[in-house]
Amino acid sequence: MKAHFLLLALCFGVSSPVCVQAAEKGQAPEAIGKGVPTEERMQWFKDAKFGVFIHWGIYAVDGVGESWSFFNGDISYPDYMKQRSGFNAGKYDPDAWAALIKRSGARYAVLTSRHHDGVALWNSRQGINVVRDTPAGRDLVGPFVDALRKDGLKVGLYYSLPDWSYRDYDVFTRQEKRYQLKDDPARWQRFLDYYQGQLKEIADRYNPDLYWFDGDWEHSASEWQSAKVRERILAHNPNAIINSRLKDYGDYDTPEQGVPVLRPASKYWELCLTMNQSWGYQPRDNQYKNANQLIHVLADTIGMGGNLLLDIGPRADGSIDERQVQILEKMGRWTGKHAEAIYGSQAGIPLDHFHGPSTLSPDRKTLYLFLDGKPSGEVLVKGLDNQVLRARVVGSGAQVAHRVLGKHDWSKVPGLLYLDVPAEALDADMTVLALELDKPVALFQEEVKAIESN
Ligand code: GLC
Repeated sequence: MKAHFLLLALCFGVSSPVCVQAAEKGQAPEAIGKGVPTEERMQWFKDAKFGVFIHWGIYAVDGVGESWSFFNGDISYPDYMKQRSGFNAGKYDPDAWAALIKRSGARYAVLTSRHHDGVALWNSRQGINVVRDTPAGRDLVGPFVDALRKDGLKVGLYYSLPDWSYRDYDVFTRQEKRYQLKDDPARWQRFLDYYQGQLKEIADRYNPDLYWFDGDWEHSASEWQSAKVRERILAHNPNAIINSRLKDYGDYDTPEQGVPVLRPASKYWELCLTMNQSWGYQPRDNQYKNANQLIHVLADTIGMGGNLLLDIGPRADGSIDERQVQILEKMGRWTGKHAEAIYGSQAGIPLDHFHGPSTLSPDRKTLYLFLDGKPSGEVLVKGLDNQVLRARVVGSGAQVAHRVLGKHDWSKVPGLLYLDVPAEALDADMTVLALELDKPVALFQEEVKAIESN
């Protein structure tokens, strides 16, 4: 234990040889810069289930794609950067943001502190930032962090490893590279010092609970010095958690835009998803998923043991499009009513047993079934080797009549459990049933054979 703390202390130094060596050897993340044990660090995240992602930057001024619009040549770099003069944050109200996030039922939020365009939302010593270079003229990260913490929400900061604007970063656009790393290692080192310096500023000023990295695909873990970055973060805050996009050195996976079809393999994961097709504010993008559809996505995600990080893109003045507000409010109605089935839950039972998402309480003795639409008859659960002590509609308390048919004394195959849900207790978006079981959930999963004694 002592030695471990000693290592952490050493690693806090800017270029500790111990840490650099460990990083160069490419040790597994758990071998270095451990912080508190992963399960403990990840607990709040695993229980939270729902977070709000916020893409806010100068790209909201003209409503163009965040960073990618100049990278892909849809707009020239000078035109993209001109947006700086329109970024005023005049209506920015972080307390109202936090209140909305809280009402939605999200337990954490993640703000883009600096996207690939390199425009930081705080007064960073180096690079471009909104304090010095836009009419906003003030730190936008600090007030956000404070507002979330006041409301008991966990704080996540997104940080892009690449900075396509920075003179010492190798990649500028899809067409243009500034230099090759092997030709100018000193220049790359200047970039590393810059970005790691920014991370130190973030740690010192805001001490986020969650570091949400992005853009790691442009370099290898050793080029980014991911191991060293992880060590430093955990040395500074042994409880911090890190997403997977620190190239091999994160704590949890981040599938993007793909609503889960199969259950992801990793123990901890978070689906990040846009409400329409865009991360940042793009007023002409009307392809919104509605609140009902997003509630189904949330149910699917938590049913597979993951979190949903749902994105909003505020306008350049800091106000939030009414369509996005409405979605969060509607989700809040549903998450509030069904809180017991959501927060702290575990992944539910396989679809072979119940045709829909499900979750389990921490003691696995309450099974929550999420009903897709209005049932056309009784709801069926197969292969449940438990006695149902009580069945009820979550949020309404209505009792649900239940009976088991097709059970034979001589067979260990459980009978068919039918649940008769009272029509008046159905939820407008998605009804959730709670089955209180006699013991932790037990599933019969053997192949059913002919009975030899027949
Ligand atoms: C992608 C994009 C980026 C967006 C992110 C969110 O990696 O580069 O624009 O911020 O996904 O997950």
